[in-house]
Amino acid sequence: MENSTTPKLITIDRHINEEQDLHPEATGEFTFLLHDFTFAIRLIEREIRRAGLNDILGLTENINIHGETVKKLDQFAFEVIYRAMDHNGNLCVMACEEANGLMKIPEKYPKGKYVLVFDPLDGSSNIDVNITLGTIFGFYKRLDPTLRTDGTIEDVLQPGRKLVAAGYVLYGSSTVMVYTTGHGVNVFTYDPTVGEFLLTKKGLKMPEWNNQYSVNEGYYHKWDEKFRKYIDFIKTPSPDKKRPYSLRYVGTAVADVHRVLNYGGIFMYPGDKSHPQGKLRLLYEANPLSFVIEQAGGRATDGQTDILDIVPSSIHQKTPLFIGSKRNVDELMEFLNS
Ligand code: AHG
Ligand code: MN
Ligand code: MN
Repeated sequence: MENSTTPKLITIDRHINEEQDLHPEATGEFTFLLHDFTFAIRLIEREIRRAGLNDILGLTENINIHGETVKKLDQFAFEVIYRAMDHNGNLCVMACEEANGLMKIPEKYPKGKYVLVFDPLDGSSNIDVNITLGTIFGFYKRLDPTLRTDGTIEDVLQPGRKLVAAGYVLYGSSTVMVYTTGHGVNVFTYDPTVGEFLLTKKGLKMPEWNNQYSVNEGYYHKWDEKFRKYIDFIKTPSPDKKRPYSLRYVGTAVADVHRVLNYGGIFMYPGDKSHPQGKLRLLYEANPLSFVIEQAGGRATDGQTDILDIVPSSIHQKTPLFIGSKRNVDELMEFLNS
């Protein structure tokens, strides 16, 4: 159909296949990995869309490693991803915000060359009030890809720079998956009527600057002087009308970063007096989000080091995060370095 008026229909499976064709060394394992992962995502999306109807709202009795009460939906998302990914023979280990230690592949299943790190449900405090949630994920290659044994802590503690693929799913007005393998950022939108993610944006580039900022300003009096000065500055009107910046804060990092990816601006979760490393986790949140933002032309730092260059020392490590349009992050850095 040479003259077809229908745009090219690219499902996520087709996209991954086509991307792999560009890499002759690829074995196709990644296609299977992503296929199983998006299956888990479809199950999570179904539960989220039926929230309130499916007796899944509310708390479990469990407290996670961070001392937070685990919501039922957190637990569900965590288990579904683990169970969808534990048997395909492509992973050697997983790590996730909700599990205390490394999540081993059950003995009866083969072990492969990839490592999965994930935040099953981001934005837990928004579950019960119908506000946007997310899932964040990253894949690494294990240090010795020829091994077929359990993955080790060293395989998991790799800097974000070593991610081979990462992204997030946003359960918003529609469900989208934002994904990169280091060759640009692609966005897939979920069509629930056919159960497929379809490519809707290819090679997304973010604006270089915007006058929007996103931070929990309730902590203002716990921040250090330099950061407070920056916040004061961006709120002070300027003759060219570029300031004051507008504030947007959802409280779901995925949603806040997704807005920044599309409209530009900056999202920040700094350290403060009581939490010097802030709240966000390096492996499950900061790294995958930073990989996406860098691939879209943006910048992500902890205030000193690019997030992707931080060498993790423990799996649940936290990090301050300043992420967004390049010029916005550069502007902030002038204050932090002053
Ligand atoms: P999670 O739901 O995975 O625990 O993550 C919540 C995080 C993040 O999504 C959000 O940016 C941040 O918590 C909000 O924290 P504050 O309530 O301190 O602003
Ligand atoms: Mn989170
Ligand atoms: Mn979470």
